[in-house]
Amino acid sequence: MSSQTSFTEDAAIVVQALNDYIQESAGRDAPVIRQPVLERLIEQLDLQQHIARGDLTGEALEQFVRDYLAATTRLHHPGFLAHQVAVPHTSGALGSLIDGATNNAMAIYEMGPAASSIEYFMINWMLEKIGWSGVSSERQSDPQSDHAGGVLTHGGSLANLTALLAARSARVPAFWKSGNPGNLVVLVPEQSHYSMKRAVAILGLGEDNCLTLPADADGRVLPSEMQQQINALRAQGRQVMAIVANACGTAAGLYDPLPEIAAICREQQIWLHVDAAHGGGALVSNKLRHLLQGIEQADSVVWDAHKMMRTPTVCAAVLVRDHRHLDHAFEQEASYLLHAKDQPGFDFISRTVECTKAGLGLRLFMTVAAMGEQGLAQHVEGLVERAQEAADLIRQRGEFELAIQPETNILCFRIHGDDHSQLEIRRQLLERGDFYISSTLYKGQRWLRLVFMNPATRLDDIRRLLDEIVTIRAGLD
Ligand SMILES: Cc1ncc(COP(=O)(O)O)c(C=O)c1O
Repeated sequence: MSSQTSFTEDAAIVVQALNDYIQESAGRDAPVIRQPVLERLIEQLDLQQHIARGDLTGEALEQFVRDYLAATTRLHHPGFLAHQVAVPHTSGALGSLIDGATNNAMAIYEMGPAASSIEYFMINWMLEKIGWSGVSSERQSDPQSDHAGGVLTHGGSLANLTALLAARSARVPAFWKSGNPGNLVVLVPEQSHYSMKRAVAILGLGEDNCLTLPADADGRVLPSEMQQQINALRAQGRQVMAIVANACGTAAGLYDPLPEIAAICREQQIWLHVDAAHGGGALVSNKLRHLLQGIEQADSVVWDAHKMMRTPTVCAAVLVRDHRHLDHAFEQEASYLLHAKDQPGFDFISRTVECTKAGLGLRLFMTVAAMGEQGLAQHVEGLVERAQEAADLIRQRGEFELAIQPETNILCFRIHGDDHSQLEIRRQLLERGDFYISSTLYKGQRWLRLVFMNPATRLDDIRRLLDEIVTIRAGLD
């Protein structure tokens, strides 16, 4: 913090600039995306000079923040439809600020009682949304109890890795000292996020041992063919360490049939991990939670608050039905941190890859507490409704094809033409800067992909987007 200007003055400068930025973005007064050349941007932002001068305060700070904001991707712009990243609630952003300023590395309780307590509270809140229940902190690590538990981690990818570590501790209790047995496989949906394969490889199982589950024509897991696959693997002497289901998948946002998958996992005593990083948001809505029916039968669940729940990045929950598997996933001793001590709280450190851990619960809590649970539910429902209305609109216009009726806030469609033209259309859209959309491969084809994250995006925006796509398409002929 500078000695020349007070923190409150600098903070006022930053908050004012952010407020102007949010208004400007919401009002479409600047492009949703702009991609200047990296080296030029480093120069424009005067990075080298600022480091040399150590002058980032007052007017210099104001100039820097405004230049910085001018080169951001504007999530508050109604044309932001590209990725599964929350348009953050300003109260949640204040949570990130408080966390940054206090810097309580709360993985051990004594380094952040308030942050730890809030994480504890929010984890229990999430467990209840699944249909599980937490316990009071003094019973949290009780090896005699099979209660549910969890932890917040820095992102869904790390959360998926952590969940698979818990699955391994359940399947191979001696893994920490003796390593992997060599015949473990993990079965994942055709539409699984790449972090699943990455986690399997990091675990040392080998990416080739991350196998694809049978799927229907839309890419949903096909439970009726799972048993055959499991039998065939067992006949080869392989052990299925975990089965993963999507709730929902990344590309098209489809939910796998959890009750049927769970029944097979239960019968075959195989760990069921549900990747609800994106679609877990539907759990907060009475209208939508049916999409995740059966999730309470999972062994582990990953749920990102920084996707559908307006929480600033990152805030991902790893939740397990029986806390003991997560507690056993990391057996390491660190004498300066992990030792018997009198404490009134709970140390999350035994459940995470991280040692220093941000107070992620605060940004989630402050978001939910500002919106209220009902407000949050309405937000999630609004995103899904808008995707469905947009699908109706696309269906009415003959030049477009819808990949599938959206179940959540992700929608895939294409305009007549080959895969290359879809990519070219996206490229030109981004260059124009009115809309920022993504694209995906799905059912063997390239699709344009909309992810409805911004509560300010209206159907009229989608009408304008479709018109712009038609214009660009005409220019390709
Ligand atoms: C289904 C699913 N799982 C996991 C992830 C990874 O989450 P993160 O980006 O927070 O690492 C994503 C990200 O899009 C996802 O869609």
